[in-house]
Amino acid sequence: MKNVKRDEVVIATKFSPTRVTEKGLRKALENSLKRLGTSYIDLYQVHWPNPLIPIPKTMKILEKLWSEGKILSIGVSNFNLKQLIKARESLSKTDIVSNQVEYNMLKRNIEKSMIEYCLREKVTIIAYSPLVQGALTGRYTRTNKPRDLVRKSNPYFTSRKLESIKPLLEALREIAEKRGKTITQIVLNWMLRWENTVPIPGVKRVEHVLDIAGAMDFRLNDIELKILEEKLHESRSTNPSKLRHGIQLPRNYLSMIFYEKRED
Ligand SMILES: NC(=O)c1ccc[n+]([C@@H]2O[C@H](COP(=O)([O-])OP(=O)(O)OC[C@H]3O[C@@H](n4cnc5c(N)ncnc54)[C@H](OP(=O)(O)O)[C@@H]3O)[C@@H](O)[C@H]2O)c1
Repeated sequence: MKNVKRDEVVIATKFSPTRVTEKGLRKALENSLKRLGTSYIDLYQVHWPNPLIPIPKTMKILEKLWSEGKILSIGVSNFNLKQLIKARESLSKTDIVSNQVEYNMLKRNIEKSMIEYCLREKVTIIAYSPLVQGALTGRYTRTNKPRDLVRKSNPYFTSRKLESIKPLLEALREIAEKRGKTITQIVLNWMLRWENTVPIPGVKRVEHVLDIAGAMDFRLNDIELKILEEKLHESRSTNPSKLRHGIQLPRNYLSMIFYEKRED
């Protein structure tokens, strides 16, 4: 952050919904500002809805922080449609700009009504785990699984599930080769067919960032989309059904997000 102009980056971060009082939420924000070395956050998001705290209460506090210029926009995360509507209704001077939800080729429940509502209301969908935590990069197979604990317990990395997505990965590889792209780039680009959806892939290496940056300069055509839809349909019967569980952001937003690993 020290070597870039503040207005050239977009900083999005989330706070824990256990911050239930104005004092607690202010403290969380001040800690974030300090850690990030900045005087404002572009997009401040509620990480999860807290069933014990009425949504309007949190929204009123956020609206105050917005009025003070400490946050430039308010977002939510993991909100269902009813909760999103409630959050919007609770604000009188500004609006919810984004909902950060899990969305990828294998988890498409938001396509039922959330995307349509957000398109109409100009709320950005920020899609997390767009690469299914790496399962859709083509790197992993039943004999080469990730070794970290988090993914070891993820149902998408069981041998059966990895086997079930093989035809999809083959189709992705074929499309990627024809286009001179990588599988990752095709998987991310598939989400850009929705005008309001911005995937936020998790990156560990510089090569990941460079790869991801090449995901936006093309659009999949109808034939490619149809092929992928067919492969997704084929693998759906064997996909796990019970998985754990949008500022109009610029389209090049995905390589510009700074996020914090923890809240003090
Ligand atoms: N709001 C929420 O509740 C919530 C929940 C979860 C995550 N998130 C956010 O979502 C974002 C990312 O999600 P995610 O990390 O769960 O999953 P993801 O983006 O689906 O997968 C990320 C993993 O894929 C691999 N990868 C990334 N780029 C690659 C590339 N170009 N080529 C090959 N492999 C690549 C890396 O793992 P390997 O190299 O080890 O395979 C990386 O850790 C993060 O910003 C995170 O904070 C939000």
